[in-house]
Amino acid sequence: MIRLENLSKIFNEDTPNETLALRYISLDIKEGDFITIIGSNGAGKTTLFNIISGTYPPTEGRVFIDGQDVTRHPEYKRARYIGRIFQDPLLGTASNMTLEDNMMICYKKGFKGLRISLNHKMKEFFREQLDQLDMDLDNRMKDNVVLLSGGQRQALTLLMMAISKPKLILLDEHTAALDPKNAQIVLALTTHFIREYRFTTMMITHNMSQAIKYGTRLLMMDKGEIILDVEGEEKKDLTVDKLVKKFHEIRKRTFETDEVLLSGRT
Ligand SMILES: Nc1ncnc2c1ncn2[C@@H]1O[C@H](COP(=O)(O)OP(=O)(O)OP(=O)(O)O)[C@@H](O)[C@H]1O
Ligand SMILES: [Mg+2]
Repeated sequence: MIRLENLSKIFNEDTPNETLALRYISLDIKEGDFITIIGSNGAGKTTLFNIISGTYPPTEGRVFIDGQDVTRHPEYKRARYIGRIFQDPLLGTASNMTLEDNMMICYKKGFKGLRISLNHKMKEFFREQLDQLDMDLDNRMKDNVVLLSGGQRQALTLLMMAISKPKLILLDEHTAALDPKNAQIVLALTTHFIREYRFTTMMITHNMSQAIKYGTRLLMMDKGEIILDVEGEEKKDLTVDKLVKKFHEIRKRTFETDEVLLSGRT
């Protein structure tokens, strides 16, 4: 469904700050894959998402979606089929618009070209959807989004994304800025939506046990490369300790002992 071919990205080429952020990455993402991505700071995870979503082009290599070469397609063109959620809850929704207007925009995106108006039936549909989130939002359709908490905003962003029916979902540490309770709620909602709508998903997380627990396939990145790609039984079999050991075997150095990365070690 999505094919990445030999992608590289060099920032600040030919300057003292030159960074090789991605080193010739190739990857086939199959329909229905739920890929979790881990890797230390600066491994190139966000850069990979930026290239998939067209924020900037790769230095070399190509991106295919359903067989079509979209490498040079601008971000706004890809936004129709790629949904992305960032760490910052402020980025997913329009602050000074009401919940219902935000949802309407996404709904229209999911039904390209159709004339749809915010009538009573539509409002009722939105209210039911908000009610399902169980975050006390169903009676706040006329509130501006700016009044919501971070967790409520991420939940709304998830719901809006689900309504717009993207081909691919990119989640870049989308629960990292939330307190543990809300992070858990948003993560549960995330897996609920992915399961219900069978979204093909890539989720970056800094939490190894989360990366192991969720998804159908796990990628580990280091210094611009994918150094591990496991799925199926092999993934089910993973533990934090096994991952740390594998990293050591592959890279011949110790995995960064970041507490969050290692959290959940059993
Ligand atoms: N716009 C940019 N200009 C220059 N360098 C950049 C830019 N974006 C990323 N980099 C560099 O590229 C490398 C990879 O960064 P990236 O943000 O992709 O890492 P990451 O894996 O997402 O890390 P983190 O876990 O900290 O979010 C880093 O060395 C970073 O400093
Ligand atoms: Mg990042």
